[in-house]
Amino acid sequence: MSIEKELRVKLTEEELKKLVKSFDIIGSREKAVAIIEIPDELSEKKTLIAEAIMKVHKNVVAVLRKKSPRKGTFRLRKYELLLGEKNTEVLHKESGCRFLLDPRKVYFSVRESAERLRISEKVKENEKILVMFGGVAPYPIVIAKKRDVNKIYSIEINPKAHEYAIKNVLLNKVGDVVIPILGDVREICPLIRQKFDRILMPLPEKAYEFLDVALSCSKKGTIIHLYGVSEEKNLFDDLEKKVVLEMKKLNKKYKTIERRKVLPFGPRKWKVCLDIRIL
Ligand SMILES: C[S@@+](CC[C@H](N)C(=O)[O-])C[C@H]1O[C@@H](n2cnc3c(N)ncnc32)[C@H](O)[C@@H]1O
Repeated sequence: MSIEKELRVKLTEEELKKLVKSFDIIGSREKAVAIIEIPDELSEKKTLIAEAIMKVHKNVVAVLRKKSPRKGTFRLRKYELLLGEKNTEVLHKESGCRFLLDPRKVYFSVRESAERLRISEKVKENEKILVMFGGVAPYPIVIAKKRDVNKIYSIEINPKAHEYAIKNVLLNKVGDVVIPILGDVREICPLIRQKFDRILMPLPEKAYEFLDVALSCSKKGTIIHLYGVSEEKNLFDDLEKKVVLEMKKLNKKYKTIERRKVLPFGPRKWKVCLDIRIL
């Protein structure tokens, strides 16, 4: 049965239209958590909605309602537990990998699984890779599982996400390749003293501010995957202007090899990615 069918008897047509029906389910067949956006007008019906989700998806043990946008350095949001277990730690399965995480304590997006696979497909044999803003290490683990690489450093500032990254590296048996490090990329990257073949910068709101750090770890031929947020009407313009300025300042030559829309990022906004090769 679908959630819509289940709710049709509990909500009016008007209320159903207002409900943001798309929700995320993070976890496994054994235990999962649902995350949903419910508009204020439907607050009174929140428990009914959560019950419908748990009735249709038997593996969902808790329903969380988004209560704020993502905020702060750790990119976390507030949630309200509508129904179910207080313990929202889950083992999420994706692309043959397993990620242990609590969505209330760390950033994780199930919607980015295709992007993780797409990046992994670009990786060449024996590459040395730097993943800035690594989170619970989904990018490094998907890459390490799919490709034969040399080393992947995953730098993350949220101690809880770093703790999960270590557990996930062990869970996925990629400890010979993936090295999670706790700290601010601005402090940690220079200490690694390496030049990388590929650098991932998955912090859309601010990644460009760390281009100088990425460039200090790059060499001729390094590919940088720079994520950003742009208005729909001029998709890549803002981010490209920022890159031009930053590169000029740092006296670096580069070529943009790909521009991509990744995912919707709010009303008329997109998460985008620029793939840049250092010349
Ligand atoms: C958008 S999330 C992406 C996480 C992960 N790459 C993923 O795809 O699930 C950005 C992450 O960068 C971390 N972060 C923010 N500023 C940082 C910094 N200066 N140094 C290291 N990590 C940082 C946040 O804690 C957050 O986990």
